[in-house]
Amino acid sequence: MYSLKDKVVIVTGASSGIGKAAAYQFAALGARVVLVARRADVLAEVKNDLSQYGDSILTVPADVTKEQDLQNLYRTVLETFGEIDVLVNNAGISVGGEFQEHDADELRKMVEVNVYAPMRLAQLVLPSMLERKQGHIVNVSSVAGLVMSPGQTAYASTRSAVIAFSHALRREVSGNGVRVSLILPGWTRTPMLDKMDLDEMRAVKVLTPFTTLDDPSVPARAIVDSVLHNRRQVLLGGSQIWVADFMGRMSPIRITDWFYNFILDKAKLVKVMKDLG
Ligand SMILES: NC(=O)c1ccc[n+]([C@@H]2O[C@H](COP(=O)([O-])OP(=O)(O)OC[C@H]3O[C@@H](n4cnc5c(N)ncnc54)[C@H](OP(=O)(O)O)[C@@H]3O)[C@@H](O)[C@H]2O)c1
Repeated sequence: MYSLKDKVVIVTGASSGIGKAAAYQFAALGARVVLVARRADVLAEVKNDLSQYGDSILTVPADVTKEQDLQNLYRTVLETFGEIDVLVNNAGISVGGEFQEHDADELRKMVEVNVYAPMRLAQLVLPSMLERKQGHIVNVSSVAGLVMSPGQTAYASTRSAVIAFSHALRREVSGNGVRVSLILPGWTRTPMLDKMDLDEMRAVKVLTPFTTLDDPSVPARAIVDSVLHNRRQVLLGGSQIWVADFMGRMSPIRITDWFYNFILDKAKLVKVMKDLG
């Protein structure tokens, strides 16, 4: 098993939810953790909490959509620690509801945060990882990118893009010492879901006894495990998601379309998803 002791781990979106939980778990295993997000004050609080695990925690406030911030992040980590062992591309935002009603700027921002930023960060860290013949890139996507539900058209598209990115990149760099993992969390209790009504989610069957509503520590554990055990993909979300994914791949597309049109209440589903974000 791979040891995380003294490994340099960059976690984007470390000020909240899944990224913050992952930062705690990496630090508890002795990693040198680089906390990245826009809110410097929140990152400072997380760093303060993590001081119980040692003094090798670095905060780099950054907007991952800004090239200058990404360059600064890369430079600062190398100047401070000399190497990068793990990149966790976790920062993400969501927009839900009727696709045509999304604000154009919000739509662009989501594509930049969810798709462009993980790709660009991977581009920055890959040359040194390939040179050292060692490194691990973990991309956090979502089961939304597999099930492609109405009301999540734009968000699901960004999550599907990260699924394709992860599998293609893993195949491209395999054999060169660099590993790539994909994490697909299901519903997780983070600020991303703050505005969603759980009863309404149950009413439209996106939350059922066969789906999970996880604590952020669950996908965080999957992120850490994917590095420790070199997992290609970890699919969370519960048996309903696994069956939907399997059926979606094995049966004609029209069956899934029919399911959304006639088994679920599509109009209500889209309305419930409006609160995602
Ligand atoms: N929660 C769920 O149910 C769920 C399910 C499946 C997948 N996911 C995925 O899990 C990942 C984390 O989501 P979460 O639920 O933990 O969300 P969250 O609690 O809302 O956290 C999002 C994080 O992303 C950061 N971020 C947003 N925009 C950024 C930007 N432009 N530059 C830098 N950092 C930025 C935020 O920090 P600042 O605001 O400080 O910048 C925050 O730390 C996302 O990729 C999401 O798609 C979540």
